[in-house]
Amino acid sequence: MTEIKWIYFNMRIFLVGYMGCGKSSLGRELSDRLGVSFIDLDLFIETRYQKTIPEIFKESGEAGFREKERICLLEVSSFENVVIAVGGGAPCFYDNMKKMKENGLCVFLDVEEKEIISRLKKSKQERPLIEGKSADEIMSFVKEMMKQRRPYYQKAQYVIKGNDIKLEELYLKVKESANNDM
Ligand code: S3P
Repeated sequence: MTEIKWIYFNMRIFLVGYMGCGKSSLGRELSDRLGVSFIDLDLFIETRYQKTIPEIFKESGEAGFREKERICLLEVSSFENVVIAVGGGAPCFYDNMKKMKENGLCVFLDVEEKEIISRLKKSKQERPLIEGKSADEIMSFVKEMMKQRRPYYQKAQYVIKGNDIKLEELYLKVKESANNDM
């Protein structure tokens, strides 16, 4: 109970980073730890449009998906006391990164390239951008993607580096930011 003291009134935390960096699992744990709600933006989009992400990509292409992603991001950016795990591409389209920073605290989970590649090789079915790619193709795709996306992610107020980011480390960053704001 004593920890409640430092929690912001109207806390909103956005977790950003590459596909496979652990935004959803760490986000869920962080929201439990803080006693606030959790939103996975991809799941929110799927519920809103009653379609899976791969179905949206198939029907509307990547541009159509990005539009829906933007609409949903703006919607969840008004929710209060929430941790939001944002799809890997979201910070890199429109002025999404700016909007997230205006509306809350962005934390970039900076996991190494080798680790991301190994995680993605195991989960390519759910991810339209790498579906059907060979191991070599995933490797070059990820390298290129990381180069292009890093400048957007690095605009986050906080960066946490590591291949095994622990909840406690993330929790302490959030707490530090709350203390700076007081
Ligand atoms: C994407 C990442 C996915 C999802 C979509 C596109 C991307 O989310 O939004 O498949 O462009 O990196 P995760 O980062 O949660 O896998």
